[in-house]
Amino acid sequence: MPALYRKPSPPSDDKRWKIVETRMRRMGDRPAALIEALHAAQEAFGYLDEDALNYVGDTLGVPHSRVYGVATFYSFFTLKPQGAHTCVVCTGTACYINGAKEILNGLERRLGVRPKETTGDGRLSVLTARCLGACSLAPAVIVDGEVKGKVGAAELVAQLEAM
Ligand code: FES
Repeated sequence: MPALYRKPSPPSDDKRWKIVETRMRRMGDRPAALIEALHAAQEAFGYLDEDALNYVGDTLGVPHSRVYGVATFYSFFTLKPQGAHTCVVCTGTACYINGAKEILNGLERRLGVRPKETTGDGRLSVLTARCLGACSLAPAVIVDGEVKGKVGAAELVAQLEAM
């Protein structure tokens, strides 16, 4: 670890983070502990939200895109809220200025769904992330665990509508 490395602090002082922290430390706070750490967080909180995913990723040194990818790919992980399909829209600076806002607007207009919501028919959940670590692909999204870069809002919304 570089001398300046500072371990990220848990998202809140909820005691349950201690369990997650201990579990990650036991596995050496390494990227290989990702699945184990996500399990620990889900066991402790019942589901994984943005704060949990970012905290685990930052502690283990795993890019957020990978953390979201893993968490949305495996069906044993539960993100809140959860539809049959999941679209995580990155709203970090690079993605924001390159069209994330249009994507979110399009999703709301066409599918009536906003971040942290699931469509009425339960087909799609929309989540946001602060930065997926794929800024060169801005705007980036993760659909069902797969990172998609340089996405056009209209095209993406049409794809999601057809799923
Ligand atoms: S700002 Fe979106 S991937 Fe970095």
